[in-house]
Amino acid sequence: MFSLKLWAATAGVVVFTSTLTGVQALDNGVARLPILGYNTWNAYQCNIDEDLLLTTAKLVKSLGLQAAGYNYVNIDDCYSEKNRSAAGDIVEDKIRFKGGMKKLNSQIHALGFKTGIYSDSGWFTCGGYPGSYQNELRDAKTFQDWGFDYLKYDNCAIPYDSITRQGIVGRYQRMADALKQISANRKTPFVFSLCQWGWSQVWLWGANLGHSWRTTGDIAPKWDSLAFIINFNSFITQATDFYGRNDLDMLQLGNGGLTYEEAKSHFTAWALMRSPLLIGTNLSAITPDILGILKNKEILAINQDDVVGKSISPFRWGINPDWTSNSTHPAQYWSGPTKSGTVFMLLNTLNVPSTLSFNLTESPWIRAGRQYSVRDLWSHTDNGTAVRTFTANNVPPHGVVALLLKDAGDEPGGLFPECSVWWQCIDKNGTHVGG
Ligand SMILES: *[C@@H]1O[C@H](CO)[C@@H](O)[C@H](O)[C@H]1NC(C)=O
Ligand SMILES: *[C@@H]1O[C@H](CO)[C@@H](O)[C@H](O)[C@H]1NC(C)=O
Ligand SMILES: *[C@@H]1O[C@H](CO)[C@@H](O)[C@H](O)[C@H]1NC(C)=O
Ligand SMILES: *[C@@H]1O[C@H](CO)[C@@H](O)[C@H](O)[C@H]1NC(C)=O
Ligand SMILES: *[C@@H]1O[C@H](CO)[C@@H](O)[C@H](O)[C@H]1NC(C)=O
Ligand SMILES: *[C@@H]1O[C@H](CO)[C@@H](O)[C@H](O)[C@H]1NC(C)=O
Repeated sequence: MFSLKLWAATAGVVVFTSTLTGVQALDNGVARLPILGYNTWNAYQCNIDEDLLLTTAKLVKSLGLQAAGYNYVNIDDCYSEKNRSAAGDIVEDKIRFKGGMKKLNSQIHALGFKTGIYSDSGWFTCGGYPGSYQNELRDAKTFQDWGFDYLKYDNCAIPYDSITRQGIVGRYQRMADALKQISANRKTPFVFSLCQWGWSQVWLWGANLGHSWRTTGDIAPKWDSLAFIINFNSFITQATDFYGRNDLDMLQLGNGGLTYEEAKSHFTAWALMRSPLLIGTNLSAITPDILGILKNKEILAINQDDVVGKSISPFRWGINPDWTSNSTHPAQYWSGPTKSGTVFMLLNTLNVPSTLSFNLTESPWIRAGRQYSVRDLWSHTDNGTAVRTFTANNVPPHGVVALLLKDAGDEPGGLFPECSVWWQCIDKNGTHVGG
């Protein structure tokens, strides 16, 4: 390891840390749990200014979203001048952020929020503003001086290979190193959110560098986009745990384009896959329905579980054979461990109502021979005790069922077959019983 570093330093290339040999979560004291908050991009794109940010922060608070846990207010692309200062620093847009980022940050912090800013690992941001390539430390210091707590780092305008002599990992490593350096002098380190939407297999390396990593391109407010993202992420759920997680992109609730049932499915999948939850909605126009979805306490509690950090995963694909990758019809039956039981997500991927039914032990987190109390996380009701199987009738088109099952003791005696895995069930005397 030492000689590798020495060689790298001598050759004048980026010095990789020893974590290159294996993925380790970035356990530096921040973002152990998914970040909850607001991001400006989806509702406003480049039409942002300091008044909008302050108004939005006040709305996150007055609408009760801050109390529900959404405690970051993040600025996305297009906040700066197109040119750096003569000294080489990024400067705020002189008109739209005329009071300066320092003042804005102190105002938003005074409301009890943390704040996030945005930059890019190439020459320019996706909107054509200055990127941080070759200015990583300088820009990290600027963001720190301005008072930010979080950095989203994009992937546009990649410099020539003859300049970088490194791939995407190296370009992100440069900013990770800069943030590490300045974080040494901060009370809490920067949260680093990788937004490297290419086919970079980030789930294999992102945890070394950042607290979350985008796995797909930008979300759009339509079912097809949700289905695509859910399908893609269904195959890489193992990458998510404390301090590092697949980022499924912003919550596109209430921007039109999704039915109420689709919006519930969206929120459920994102929360239970333990993605960061960043609201991308125009909060001045939010409806009580959407607000209710965003504030679902029981589902947020699972997203913010402080004992178990893992994502839910599919145990049966349903209408398609297991392990089918299908961008319009992702897996339907999912489960995962939580500190208070096993959570299930059933997705109706069809355009018509359907009945979704599963045997409890299809989930590896369930014990055979036990019965389970069932909590419906959307109706907020206790729905009796499940013995061996559970059936959800009439799930609406593109709708979702979210259940928390808790062990409720031994199942009743005399059930047939004797084993829930009936086809393998053997009497002690050697006779096969069951089906
Ligand atoms: C910004 O920088 C470009 C490229 O260096 C230069 O051509 C342009 O004049 C600058 N614009 C301003 C407003 O300074
Ligand atoms: C946000 O909603 C308000 C209230 O309906 C509306 O006036 C405003 O134009 C919306 N902004 C955008 C960018 O859609
Ligand atoms: C995806 O699955 C649905 C449902 O089984 C099927 O109708 C559709 O043809 C599949 N799409 C592709 C591209 O295989
Ligand atoms: C559920 O269990 C029953 C036996 O109790 C079995 O016939 C059925 O195939 C199982 N279904 C699934 C999807 O495993
Ligand atoms: C659970 O019970 C409630 C209240 O009766 C009902 O509205 C809901 O649909 C039930 N959930 C499931 C998944 O059947
Ligand atoms: C073996 O077990 C089976 C199933 O329980 C039972 O029907 C059968 O009588 C047993 N045979 C003997 C020889 O005990």
